[in-house]
Amino acid sequence: MAGAPGHHRRRKHRRQSHPASDGLGHDVSVANSRGPETLSDLAAETGAFPAPLAEVVSGAEIVIVSIPEKAVPVLPKDLFDHAAEGVTVIDTGNYYPQRDGRIDAIENGQTDSAWVAEQLGKPVVKVFNNIYAQHLLDRGVPAGTAGRIALPVAGDDHLAKEKVMQLVDELGFDPIDAGRLDESWRQQPGTPASGTDPDLEGVREGLDAASPERPTELRG
Ligand SMILES: NC(=O)c1ccc[n+]([C@@H]2O[C@H](COP(=O)([O-])OP(=O)(O)OC[C@H]3O[C@@H](n4cnc5c(N)ncnc54)[C@H](OP(=O)(O)O)[C@@H]3O)[C@@H](O)[C@H]2O)c1
Repeated sequence: MAGAPGHHRRRKHRRQSHPASDGLGHDVSVANSRGPETLSDLAAETGAFPAPLAEVVSGAEIVIVSIPEKAVPVLPKDLFDHAAEGVTVIDTGNYYPQRDGRIDAIENGQTDSAWVAEQLGKPVVKVFNNIYAQHLLDRGVPAGTAGRIALPVAGDDHLAKEKVMQLVDELGFDPIDAGRLDESWRQQPGTPASGTDPDLEGVREGLDAASPERPTELRG
């Protein structure tokens, strides 16, 4: 669907000038599994530049991986070989066993994004996983607006996290440092801050109130 995060978030930010821009001054390209020719509608709608997967990652400063967990292990193993040095990888994913099949490591307590990082062989920053794609498109507002939606940002690399928090702010949301990746169960599906569009205070309360126990209905 137009507006799916898989489409809107799988983008890269280039240093060089590029025909496609996201309106914030970032040059963005996008890939899927079927090839750039299948992304022409999305390109027309968003201005993102459709490209083959390897080309999207090549030289990218930020890569947003937004695909179902079950697809992560089948990404090419050399995918990040030609990314920019120090590339920041964002993971928007959530584990749903009904969709992804049972993943033992996650069922046994690894966080969704720590598992993704392990599969990719790259540290990731977890963000955008707890907001509906359409809300990400529609509900961004300038900093200081009352009720501005806040988004938790979890990761182990402080510099990468700072870069991502700046991006979150540019997109119209209040970023909150949600700690390390192994604490990111606090923002996974079934937690209070997931899918409820809270503001800063609401996200803080939601992260505090979250339980590391995955709800029964979200277990495989
Ligand atoms: N949708 C939401 O509102 C939302 C909100 C928060 C978090 N999330 C999470 O974000 C992730 C993506 O969600 P989604 O709703 O965008 O899923 P989706 O609608 O199923 O889209 C998946 C996208 O991933 C692409 N893809 C799948 N396998 C691929 C591969 N091997 N290589 C390259 N691209 C591949 C698909 O391209 P093809 O069609 O060409 O295969 C498609 O564009 C999921 O983990 C989801 O739980 C979603």
